[in-house]
Amino acid sequence: MQIFIDSADTDELKALAATGLVDGVTTNPSLIAKSGRPIFPTLKTICETVSGPVSAESVALDHDGMVAEGRKLMAVAPNIVVKLPLTMEGLKACKTLTEEGAKTNVTLCFSAVQALMAAKAGATYISPFLGRLDDGGQDGMELIREIRAIYDNYGYETQVLSASIRTVGHVRDAALAGSDCATIPPNIFRALYKHALTDLGLEAFLKDWKASGQEI
Ligand code: E4P
Repeated sequence: MQIFIDSADTDELKALAATGLVDGVTTNPSLIAKSGRPIFPTLKTICETVSGPVSAESVALDHDGMVAEGRKLMAVAPNIVVKLPLTMEGLKACKTLTEEGAKTNVTLCFSAVQALMAAKAGATYISPFLGRLDDGGQDGMELIREIRAIYDNYGYETQVLSASIRTVGHVRDAALAGSDCATIPPNIFRALYKHALTDLGLEAFLKDWKASGQEI
């Protein structure tokens, strides 16, 4: 499963990209606003930091506006993926931009039939927001499983990009459900490496090694 980082914090992204384990980045208007920096230079820095796909979201609501913004966003770097909302206008724009050769990420997906429509529009990625469904008392992971089944039934190539991830368990369950990618906040990325038994085990090995007086 590919791991994307869901952030527009360029310092944080540089630190995490240094692991060599970051496959891409997703941003949205809220994350760009939170960064406190202008969108275009921020995206440029991110695209220079991570060579994989970097999703940048349009804010227009109509087809023509989204296509115009999508073209501007794509001009930033070759690894930009145009992120579009799951509305009728968004899917029309997805089809237009896909036909122009753009990579697209259809976002704010909350149902399996929405994901079916995004695949029909030629989306490169579909972003089901599992955390927000869980927040509302629904089962976000069930949506990932449904989309996986529908895409496999018909051979759609749209990649499932599990989004709105809140926990390490979400990452595990998305991988078990066959999600192609997951976009995760930096704190969850750091937590993926952690286990108390790893820390305890390492401490014991080093203590025993020191007592042996040997060197490597
Ligand atoms: C993904 O593309 C979205 O930007 C993101 O995962 C939304 O996460 P949130 O629900 O934590 O805001």
